[in-house]
Amino acid sequence: MSRIVVVSNRVALPQRSGGPAGGLAVAVNAALKDKGGIWFGWSGRVAPEPSDAPEVTHHGAMTYAVIDLTTEDYQEYYNGFANRVLWPVLHYRVDLSEFYRSDLSGYIRVNRMFAEHLAKIIRPDDVVWIHDYHMMPLARYLRESGHQNRIGFFLHIPMPPADIIQALPQHSETVGALASYDLVGFQTEGDKDNFARYLETRGGQPTPDGTGCDIGGRRVAFGVFPVAIETGAFVRRARHASRTRFVKAFHESLMGRKLIIGVDRLDYSKGIPNRLDAYEHFLRTGPEWHDRVAYVQITPKSRTDVPEYQEMDRYVSHKAGQINGAYADVSWTPLRYVNRTYSRSALAGFYRLADVALVTPLRDGMNLVAKEFVAAQDPADPGVLVLSQFAGAAAELGTGAVLVNPHDTEGMATALRRALDMPLAERRERHARMMRILEVRDIDCWAEAFLAALSPKEPATERRE
Ligand code: G6P
Repeated sequence: MSRIVVVSNRVALPQRSGGPAGGLAVAVNAALKDKGGIWFGWSGRVAPEPSDAPEVTHHGAMTYAVIDLTTEDYQEYYNGFANRVLWPVLHYRVDLSEFYRSDLSGYIRVNRMFAEHLAKIIRPDDVVWIHDYHMMPLARYLRESGHQNRIGFFLHIPMPPADIIQALPQHSETVGALASYDLVGFQTEGDKDNFARYLETRGGQPTPDGTGCDIGGRRVAFGVFPVAIETGAFVRRARHASRTRFVKAFHESLMGRKLIIGVDRLDYSKGIPNRLDAYEHFLRTGPEWHDRVAYVQITPKSRTDVPEYQEMDRYVSHKAGQINGAYADVSWTPLRYVNRTYSRSALAGFYRLADVALVTPLRDGMNLVAKEFVAAQDPADPGVLVLSQFAGAAAELGTGAVLVNPHDTEGMATALRRALDMPLAERRERHARMMRILEVRDIDCWAEAFLAALSPKEPATERRE
């Protein structure tokens, strides 16, 4: 029987808790836990020697197979090429990328090592689903060793225009290698179009129906599969969490003030400095709001070995201190800046309490905080989502959210004021519009749509004359 073999750098191992779970781990876990399958990836550990064989554990319908990385792999492949080159460039931040050939070699070496382990795991009729920018060339290496499986790739982060992709040194080894997949999936139409155009610059011929491209003697299909959440389960989780002692204590600490919430990994793509500038502007120009709002920004640290993240950490802490220094009073803290992680249940409860969520990344593949915030609301008295036009989520939630440009400080402050003042009828209507989308397209639909598009097609029946 054909199995689903999923590959990603980060694996949501069942025994692991804590640490900021990124969107990928949350989504893949939700999509697979009932369906079952094999999930292969990094153990999250750094060891002196490379793993001879994956460490295998079983949990429910899932089998996890993970390997350790050596210190060199961790530096070159993960901290280096994946997080200092691919991550910034694919988020349109060529200015932040630090390219070293040794890091690219490490990236290729680790991908080849993943392919070798994987070759021992997969059977000929398994469907292989590879996730995210850490693993772009994997299918190429599997093909080189003769694997004919259906292999799909889903990019959780943005795909920028061809001009930006071409700023990646040796992009044929990374984005170019995506042509070895049968199907490449993106979060938005814009991402897909950018990739299609990039392949054309490399001599690809678009298929007549526009659903793919012929390149290098193969056909690669593309599609848009916006990643989603477990809507029903998250609604229940938030309802339940709001009754817990922990969330009630948080509620009491607000002392009747309106709650503005932000939840992001500490990452420059999330636009936290711009958001803090906007909040500062809001406080400066709206003294009537002083002591009537509390902004809680929950920001677990992430990729702390990468210099650009350390810099962001210093900057945001300093800025948060400045805002409180300028506006706090003995009995009011305008900004609570928190670096710790909370369980998803606690977050669900916080979202339900909040009057406004600020989800204002400079670029984001999707942003599941936006979707979870909406699902967590009480439909009778929902909070307002203030959402960046540059988050993938804006394509689906744009009709219900208050959309902002995170580069427009005054515009964001105005949007925040508008959200805080929004009448109940408008909040309900906007919330209902967004909920309809989240109910129709949940995480199961996401996985099913991708896997259906990847499955081998029935041979067309011959027409008799
Ligand atoms: C984003 C990426 C994921 C990544 C996550 C957390 O959501 O798309 O691939 O796992 O960030 O980052 P980390 O480097 O801790 O895995």
